[in-house]
Amino acid sequence: MDTNPHAPKHQLTMSLLMTPDMANFAGNVHGGAILKLLDQVAYACASRYAARYVVTLSVDQVMFLEAIHVGEIVTFLASINHTGRSSMEVGIKVVAEDIRSQARRHVNSCFLTMVAVDDAGRPTAVPPWQPTTDEEIRRNDAARLRRELRQELAARFAATRRAPQA
Ligand SMILES: CC(C)(COP(=O)(O)OP(=O)(O)OC[C@H]1O[C@@H](n2cnc3c(N)ncnc32)[C@H](O)[C@@H]1OP(=O)(O)O)[C@@H](O)C(=O)NCCC(=O)NCCS
Repeated sequence: MDTNPHAPKHQLTMSLLMTPDMANFAGNVHGGAILKLLDQVAYACASRYAARYVVTLSVDQVMFLEAIHVGEIVTFLASINHTGRSSMEVGIKVVAEDIRSQARRHVNSCFLTMVAVDDAGRPTAVPPWQPTTDEEIRRNDAARLRRELRQELAARFAATRRAPQA
């Protein structure tokens, strides 16, 4: 994991060798192994940014674009895209590198929402994230849209549970 003290507080990078114990029945890296790593990277990125313990609220839009092979080096590039009062959206881009050819492939992208909590497990405020570069502003806008869609989806499902049965 990136422990560079000068790295921006809203970003984090982790590189890992894909070992045979991570393989599925087809011999490629198990999707579940990648999901666990994504959660760990999101935890590290969000808790370091907020200087708080955080919990995972949701994992959205996980796209396994290509298989990841045992023996490849996989790099997780995480950044805070958006903050609410207590929640943070962490975007993670996953790049796999073939050691011999050094070819790099974008194999996965996903968005996790992490919530900062206090010692009693109650949501607690995080420092507001202010995007500055064009890239950060674009990611922030997209994260806002995803947050609205998540909230709308949650409200609509809640309404179906309240609706009287026919
Ligand atoms: C995450 C958790 C603390 C939120 O608790 P809560 O009672 O919903 O708290 P709040 O209503 O204050 O919401 C906290 C934040 O989550 C967001 N949130 C909660 N439910 C949401 C939903 N369905 N969709 C989108 N955002 C949601 C809120 O908007 C709020 O964000 P904000 O402060 O930035 O505006 C609580 O749901 C929890 O502890 N979940 C379990 C987490 C966990 O154990 N994860 C690991 C799973 S193994």
